[in-house]
Parts: sequence; structure tokens; C-alpha cells
Amino acid sequence: MRTIIEPFRIKMTEPIKMLSRAERIEALKKARYNVFLLDAEDCCIDLLTDSGTGAMSTEQWAAMMISDESYAGSKSWKKFEAAVHEITGMKHILPTHQGRAAEGILAQARVKEGDIVPNNSHFDTTRANMEYVGGKALDFLCPEGYDLGLDAPFKGNMDVEKLETCIKENGAEKIPFCMITITNNTGGGQPVSMENIRSVKSVLDKYGIPFVIDACRFAENSYFIRERETGYEEKSLLEIAREIFSYADAATMSCKKDGLANIGGFLVCNNDQWAEAFKNLLILREGFPTYGGLAGRDLEIIAVGLMEALEYDYQVYRHATVEYLGRKLSLMGVPFVQPVGGHAVFLDAKEFLPHIPPPQYPGIGLVNALYIEGGVRSVELGSVMFGRIDEEGNEIPSPHELTRLAFPRRVYTQSHFDYLAEVIEAVWEEREKITGYRITYQPEVLRHFMCHFEPTP
Ligand SMILES: Cc1ncc(COP(=O)(O)O)c(C=O)c1O
Repeated sequence: MRTIIEPFRIKMTEPIKMLSRAERIEALKKARYNVFLLDAEDCCIDLLTDSGTGAMSTEQWAAMMISDESYAGSKSWKKFEAAVHEITGMKHILPTHQGRAAEGILAQARVKEGDIVPNNSHFDTTRANMEYVGGKALDFLCPEGYDLGLDAPFKGNMDVEKLETCIKENGAEKIPFCMITITNNTGGGQPVSMENIRSVKSVLDKYGIPFVIDACRFAENSYFIRERETGYEEKSLLEIAREIFSYADAATMSCKKDGLANIGGFLVCNNDQWAEAFKNLLILREGFPTYGGLAGRDLEIIAVGLMEALEYDYQVYRHATVEYLGRKLSLMGVPFVQPVGGHAVFLDAKEFLPHIPPPQYPGIGLVNALYIEGGVRSVELGSVMFGRIDEEGNEIPSPHELTRLAFPRRVYTQSHFDYLAEVIEAVWEEREKITGYRITYQPEVLRHFMCHFEPTP
């Protein structure tokens, strides 16, 4: 059959509220033109993030009911540990309440003032955690990754040459570890090839630098490797995932993505000394090492979800939905990052709205226009999220101005995507009318979450 169907039936539904256009304009104004500050029920299709927004399976709901809420050494912990060990093969497994908690512990335990932490592209929380303890978070994305219109299979790869130059220039002792993010969320949800992971590992081995994987979307990345990289066509996603982790010394994970859970994360490593330091911080911040900030039921859900994310049919369907929207946008001529990512479509707001200069945040202009047009909530990945303020207080814009439409897992059906495509088309046709924005309030850290805007005249 040509049609790839959702590999599940729907047993429980949740109503979607439809506001009028006038109500949406009012709601956005009340939210200071920052969609993070909207009430979720005022969003008709909520594509703000794929993080923690997925639907659980019957197996996950069932697992929740048999959870063990003992403080220490619960049965649920054993299942969580077994699942994470089966996938990552790591010796030490520490549950955390979400990904950034794992990053925070890693940074606090291993990064000192003046250290450098390279990555293909740091996610915002990863960067913030490394910088908070005085580290310098550097991105070494491969050249293809910067060319938004280029259709290449592994645009999330790290630039291995640049990585080696950085090590030579700064000295290995300045680099406590190197990270790689799979898939590369900041870089358009683009995958990293196994070959690239191996090359990074071999450079790091040469200089004795540990390798840490930001594994939030490890299952989606494994699927891309199976589909696009020679030699992996016959492998299961679990085998591919295991190979990825076999090259790493440690990994951070947000189970809100490929854990198919609404909350949770983990930090894993092989080194006993690292684990000791991590455990001390874990107890201080998250909880006892057999629950780490999670309820027993969360541990159960994640144990099941991690394995469901590695089911091939699920990944085929997931990628088919993202590609479905991509094909529709191509027909309309809407500019977006090519090829579509694993969890999202990234609209190129700079190309979409060439009349709005980066200091007036075209990504926010597009996010807000999509909300007003059809109640679609998306997120800006541009100068608001990644812009930097230099020593003289000038804002340095991000190289790209993107608007991300991230797809919650197992939540929306094909007609929701048809509706979404119509909303984008309507915005595209009226794009000259969209205005820029300026910031009227911003907090010091991760400003995009809480800042306020007003439209520019
Ligand atoms: C690549 C990447 N790393 C880390 C995180 C942080 O995870 P969490 O939101 O669970 O703290 C995210 C979340 O979106 C992510 O996409």
C-alpha cells in the first residue's frame, strides 16, 4: 500500500478548543507576544515542542499501574535500569527529572572556569549549563549543516577537522569532554552519521578526551542511519543505538523525547570516578540514585517507552508525517530547512520574511502570524533564542532565523497536518503584512522563555 498509516488506534481523546481570530489576537497580546506565555488550551495545534508532549501507549499506561513507589531499590527502578542498560550498555545509570538536570550535573562535576566544551550544536539548555559553570560552549557543525537549502543525508554531523584544530589550539587539558547531539535539534533536527560518530571518537581518543552523547533523539537518529547509511539497512534500531552508545564514555538524555514519556531523563557513564561525583550531586539535587527526581510510575513508563521508540514501524510512521508536511510546503514554495528533520519542520523565517531584518526577529514574526492565522503554536530558533549580547551591549544575531514546528509523538493525525499546511499557506500568501518585533523585557538566562515583545511599527 502507498499510504503509511498511524501504527496505533486511538482509545482516548482530548478536545481541541477553537478560538476565533479576534480571541487569538487578544490572547497573544495578553501573552506579551511570546507564545511561551499563552495558555495551552488557547492553542489549536500545539507544535511548540516535541518534548514531553507525546501520547502514551496502552503498555505504558498499564506499566504505570504496577509501579513500585518505594524510596530505594524499587522494582520500577530495576526495569528502568535494565532498559537503559540494554540500549546504552553503560555501567552507571542515574535517573534525572529531565535532560537539563543531567546536563547540569555533568557540567557541575566536570567543567571548570575557562574550559571548552565542543559540540556539533549545543542545545540551549546544554549551552546554558556549560556556561553557567564558566565553560565555553563551542559549536563545530559540518559545512553542509549551515546551508539550509542543501539536501544532504547527515547535516547534523560534526566538523571533525575544526574539532581537531580546536584541541590543538587550546590543548586537550582545557577540554573536559566533547559532546555530540543526536539528532541535532538546533541544527534543524538533522541526523549524525555513524561514520561521523566514529571519526569524532577517533580524534578524541588521540588526545584522551572523553566523549559524551546528548541522546534525546537517539532512536530517530538510529532510524536515519538505517535508512541513509550504507551497511545499516539490515540492522535493527536497537543494534544501531547500541553501536552509537558503544563509542561514548557518557550520555545525557531527556526521556521527554525518545523515551516517549511526559517527564524524565538520565545521565549514564562508564567511569567510576565520574559516577561517584555525579551521584553526590544527584542526591543533592534530584533524589536517591534509584529514582532521581522521578516517581516509580515515571520509571516504568520510560522503561517501556524507550523500547517503543526503537520499533521500526513507529519510526516509519513518525518520519512519514514530517515528510508529508515537507512535501506540501515544497509544492507551495515555502522556504524550509532541507531535508526535513526527524522531529520537526524548520521554516526559514529569514527567507519567508525578507522585509524583516534579524534585529526585528523575523522568526517571532512568523511564530505569531501562525498563531493568529490558525491557532498553531510554534517556536522561534533564531536571534531571540541564540542571539548573543557582546561586551558593549550590542546584540549579535544568530546566523539563522528559524521557526520550528515540532511534532509531538503519536498525537496528531493526517487531517491535523492538512489543516497546518493550510494555515502556513494562508500566512505565506499574506507574508508582506507581517511585522517585526522588539523586546520590552528579558531575563538574564534563556530569555526566550519569559521575555516580552511588542510589534514594531
Ligand atoms: C537536544 C536537546 N538536548 C537537551 C534538551 C533538554 O532536555 P529537557 O527539556 O528534558 O531538559 C533538549 C530539549 O528539548 C534537546 O532537544
